[in-house]
Amino acid sequence: MVDSITENLQLVSTDEGKGFKLLNEPNSHVYIPDFSSSAMEFKINDERRRRGKLLKAIEGKASGEPLKVFDFFGGFAQDAFLMACLGHEVLSVERNPLVYEVTSQAWENQKEVEWVKDLNLSLRLKNAESFHELQNQMESFDVIYMDPMFEKSKNKSKSVLSMQILQELLSHSEEEQIPWDEILELGLQKASKIVMKLPIKGPSLVQRKFSHQILGKTIRFEVFI
Ligand SMILES: C[S@@+](CC[C@H](N)C(=O)[O-])C[C@H]1O[C@@H](n2cnc3c(N)ncnc32)[C@H](O)[C@@H]1O
Repeated sequence: MVDSITENLQLVSTDEGKGFKLLNEPNSHVYIPDFSSSAMEFKINDERRRRGKLLKAIEGKASGEPLKVFDFFGGFAQDAFLMACLGHEVLSVERNPLVYEVTSQAWENQKEVEWVKDLNLSLRLKNAESFHELQNQMESFDVIYMDPMFEKSKNKSKSVLSMQILQELLSHSEEEQIPWDEILELGLQKASKIVMKLPIKGPSLVQRKFSHQILGKTIRFEVFI
């Protein structure tokens, strides 16, 4: 079954579950979030060895202790999955119902794959708007992780397929003014740390100065404590 979502994007049912297909991208395959491939297993093991920047930002000096993480911009839950694979307890919240549907179905279909099952992960996915969800949360969290949509990069390099799909899907939603300062203040009441992923160049989204930042080649993590 195929549903047209926008003129360039279809929702396609396959034997492996539902996925998105971009039409304006030559040779684009149906994208289903990956929670179980051998390439993903390799990536997770590599991340465990190298302790990459996301983990450094999330864990800080608390390396080794399981943390409760609220993933504010869930998307296809790829970052949430990585954090869960590294031993953290993650609640990943996504507002868009289609993104949530595809992601939660992929997770349900793939979580019994042997190497994933053996990790005994604590990963919960929820379809909700995160600001309200956080306001009403009775649970407490150690870290709130934020990976918002960035402006499309002006240089020629294309975003990865999953990001192109989100950009296509969300470019048709209404423009919104995100109350970043309010989100940050609420977040700091609900958790002891906020980690915000941002492009390496470009302004901060909030007025408060970060406590420290971790720099990568194309992105940076601002950490607020
Ligand atoms: C850049 S993507 C996140 C990608 C994610 N880190 C991953 O690994 O797949 C941002 C996502 O946040 C979602 N989003 C935007 N505003 C939101 C809100 N207020 N509450 C929950 N989700 C939101 C968008 O629909 C989009 O899927």
